[in-house]
Amino acid sequence: QQQEKESLYIVLNYAKNYYQNLLWNQDEGQAVGLSYFKERGFKENTIKEFELGYSLDNWDHFSKEAIAKGYNPDILDKAGLLIRKEGKQFDRFRGRVVFPIHNVSGKVVAFGARILKPDKNQPKYLNSPETDVYHKSHILYGLFQAKNAIRQEDTCYLVEGYTDVISLHQAGVNNVVASSGTSLTIEQIRLIGRYTQNITVLYDGDAAGIKASLRGTDMILEEGLNVKVAVFPDNDDPDSYVRKIGAQAFKDFIKKNSTDFITFKTKLYLDEAANDPFKKAGIIKEVVESITKIPDPIKRAVFFKQTAGLLQMDEGTLIVESNQILKKQV
Ligand code: CTP
Ligand code: MN
Ligand code: MN
Ligand code: MN
Ligand code: MN
Repeated sequence: QQQEKESLYIVLNYAKNYYQNLLWNQDEGQAVGLSYFKERGFKENTIKEFELGYSLDNWDHFSKEAIAKGYNPDILDKAGLLIRKEGKQFDRFRGRVVFPIHNVSGKVVAFGARILKPDKNQPKYLNSPETDVYHKSHILYGLFQAKNAIRQEDTCYLVEGYTDVISLHQAGVNNVVASSGTSLTIEQIRLIGRYTQNITVLYDGDAAGIKASLRGTDMILEEGLNVKVAVFPDNDDPDSYVRKIGAQAFKDFIKKNSTDFITFKTKLYLDEAANDPFKKAGIIKEVVESITKIPDPIKRAVFFKQTAGLLQMDEGTLIVESNQILKKQV
């Protein structure tokens, strides 16, 4: 069992070196892959730190080379590097830039791979399947590179994507991880909880990002961690925004714009409801529901007071509502 895992780590590490070698030393890799990263503003140091690579636009160049070097095709398959279909096998990642995904100890466990130009017939990112060493829901992209900074800053920034992690890191914001390719899970929140109790959610500024932020903040609260949210302008994500406004302005933006989840949620819903009293009642319920999820009664009390202020309501009414929710749960 452990031996089988070891053999997966070995082929995954081989694959990482193979993709990196193409990116830096081979014509197609340089012309297509390296220039893609450079056009995105990634510096050479950053590309090296994240061990980014390139997979050739070829059906089986990787598998042929790996097998010629003596790697076992069954292990390559179990590591998620191949696709086997109708007795044939070919490379999973082809003609894409490659983002190795590391576990907390820095071993490569999977890859995400991005297409170079938009194509309606192919997903923008292809990711490794679940394997014996890669359980998506338990991995955070960038945690290996971020963990010391998360401890030091006593805060973790949570973003959506690979490129958000990398761009922020390059801008000197090192305490950042992404849930990448899955919606945030309880296991991922607990993983962050080993390093800090404070999470700031920095999801994309589009409708999907805001929806995911609402879901994410509720889950984080239920785990008993403190959560803040900063919302970016529509059509921006942390990567595009930091490139647009620069490192210092980005840090200032986060400082100025991160609000606790209650303010975030209340304001968001208030904008939606405007002057409709029925809608307002609905909002109050939603917000009270979120507060009720906080395990610590003292924190709950603080938020009831704050929300009552924001909604211009009597605090007692909110608490009565919360007690009713609690009663229904038992
Ligand atoms: N994702 C995925 N498969 C897709 C699209 C997205 O796994 N087909 C994951 C990737 O981890 C991606 C994240 O979801 O990084 C966020 O998606 P999106 O915001 O669309 O991509 P970006 O990270 O912004 O990537 P880019 O800037 O390269 O377009
Ligand atoms: Mn760094
Ligand atoms: Mn997005
Ligand atoms: Mn992006
Ligand atoms: Mn994005």
